[in-house]
Amino acid sequence: MRAEDWDERYAERQQWSAEPNAQIAELLADLPPGDAVDLAAGEGRHALWLTGLGWRVTAVDFSDLGLARGRAQPGADRVTWVTADVTTWSAGPASLDLVLVAYLHLAESETTALLTRAVSWLRPGGQLLVLGHDVENVSAGVGGPQEPAILHSVERLSPVAAQLDVDRLEQVRRETPAGTALDTLLWGRRPGPDVGLRR
Ligand SMILES: C[S@@+](CC[C@H](N)C(=O)[O-])C[C@H]1O[C@@H](n2cnc3c(N)ncnc32)[C@H](O)[C@@H]1O
Repeated sequence: MRAEDWDERYAERQQWSAEPNAQIAELLADLPPGDAVDLAAGEGRHALWLTGLGWRVTAVDFSDLGLARGRAQPGADRVTWVTADVTTWSAGPASLDLVLVAYLHLAESETTALLTRAVSWLRPGGQLLVLGHDVENVSAGVGGPQEPAILHSVERLSPVAAQLDVDRLEQVRRETPAGTALDTLLWGRRPGPDVGLRR
């Protein structure tokens, strides 16, 4: 989908819950805060939640209208909002403690290229969290995009996982009112000698 298509969706109504995804909240709630980027942040539910925990967050999305919904929320002045295409936007090398990518679905080669760049933005010990619809969700889950080519899987995220010390790379279940959805989770740390020194 193009930025214009997302703008149209966001212009119609709020798209996502104001709450963070439960899996993301579980993994991030107890981390010491630092510098984070939320890639494809949409209405900014995760960026806003993270700033509430003390993180310095940059929220990047190519939909101005999505970000405008986030900008209208309480606490939004503590988030840096950036309208940009994530396939070309860049953070500084080794400048972040966390990159979050939730439910961004691009062609497989674009996903691998983006996440490989994202790993380079992490400080040693910095963490990458990718969560999105699993390819098996089309046949065995509910909701989400129905084009298998843009969905995640353990196999498709493996080239990125190979660049990390991986804590989790697996298919995870997400309960929704419509039934059980299947997501793929990648959760890992950039390796490096001075992990204990960060922050
Ligand atoms: C399903 S929404 C997820 C929003 C948010 N991560 C969340 O979990 O609430 C996908 C978002 O990806 C954004 N997006 C898709 N392709 C993008 C791209 N190439 N550059 C920037 N944003 C993009 C869309 O504008 C949309 O806001």
